[in-house]
Amino acid sequence: MIDNNIHCNKKNNCQKYFSLTKKCIILQFIIIDITLIMDTKAKFLGLEIKSPIIAGSCGLTNNIENLEKLEEAGAGAVILKSVFEEQIIYDIKRNLSMMAPVDSYGMSYEYIASHVADDSLSVHFDLIKEAKKRLHIPVIGSINCYSFENWMTYTKRFQDAGCDAIELNMAILPYETNLSCEDVDRLFSDVINTLRKSVSIPISIKVGQNFTDMANFMQRLSWMGINGITMFNKALNVDIDTEKFEITHAPSLSSPEEVYNTLRWVAILSKKLRCNISASTGVHTADDVVKMLLAGASTVQVVSCLYKNGVEYMRTLNDGLNKWMSDKGYENIEQFRGKLAVKNNDQASLFFRTQFMKHFAQI
Ligand SMILES: Cc1cc2nc3c(=O)[nH]c(=O)nc-3n(C[C@H](O)[C@H](O)[C@H](O)COP(=O)(O)O)c2cc1C
Repeated sequence: MIDNNIHCNKKNNCQKYFSLTKKCIILQFIIIDITLIMDTKAKFLGLEIKSPIIAGSCGLTNNIENLEKLEEAGAGAVILKSVFEEQIIYDIKRNLSMMAPVDSYGMSYEYIASHVADDSLSVHFDLIKEAKKRLHIPVIGSINCYSFENWMTYTKRFQDAGCDAIELNMAILPYETNLSCEDVDRLFSDVINTLRKSVSIPISIKVGQNFTDMANFMQRLSWMGINGITMFNKALNVDIDTEKFEITHAPSLSSPEEVYNTLRWVAILSKKLRCNISASTGVHTADDVVKMLLAGASTVQVVSCLYKNGVEYMRTLNDGLNKWMSDKGYENIEQFRGKLAVKNNDQASLFFRTQFMKHFAQI
């Protein structure tokens, strides 16, 4: 009898335990579900996108398989690998010189060169068309030119190929001693003013990290009628081999510490610009994404972390953002975006500090 009672009690306890565990599992699923339904809609260049996390321009965005995987993993938009005018000119010269010395083409050079350029560009246009056919998220083209006319020609052709918007990769290193701030200013404003009149798709300017008058220039850029600024492009790293006395390439993926420079400028400028900021360089984790949004970025671009972890890592970033929003009780991004931008928060003036004064640096 006693044994039977014990057996029954054990059975009841077991049933209770399993039923409780089942409830816990169901509860867990509900919690996960709640996490997944956070509203992460964001604005990028006037387009509504379902996540503020965007795959930045790089080799990974140069083929349709990756673009589909990025969409599947929750990317808000994809920015295609830049078309470089310099690369096209280089290809033209190399191709033509394989058949005869370049200066022997005479009058026909221009004609043949434009056909070779068309061939190079058509590969990119095919990708745009394919991406527009297969993806539902915005597909953004990216170009880098050095001749004024080609900024116009290429942008118009990207628009015709069906891009939703264009990112002008205008990152430059002002290395020439005779290049003044005014020269840089003129270069940007000439391109932007002319493009604004000749194309109708949204335009974003991707800038480098080197400006004497960063805050002032970014604000003036934002007044030129562009739809967004991507801060910042990362320069290709170069190194010195001390054994061979040679200049070599250095690793070019960003390190997580690079996030702080971007964060500083996003926080300083986000409330001062007339267009949105897309934060780029150094974003490696979902926490970094949240920081950029708190600093006032509208969207965040990632590249190096996708190279390091695979394009599926886009999902980890999105899940992390969702979880943080759920933990903090935010239902949408506008509820917290810019909360820690300079102007919105007294503490944020710390972003102005550069010197290691004991009081601020705590060391
Ligand atoms: C391998 C590689 C290729 C890149 N190609 C381009 C490019 O074609 N156009 C462009 O605007 N930026 C290019 N970038 C720069 C990235 O878009 C991005 O701005 C930079 O890597 C900083 O972001 P991250 O810290 O997330 O890597 C490239 C970066 C890497 C690492």
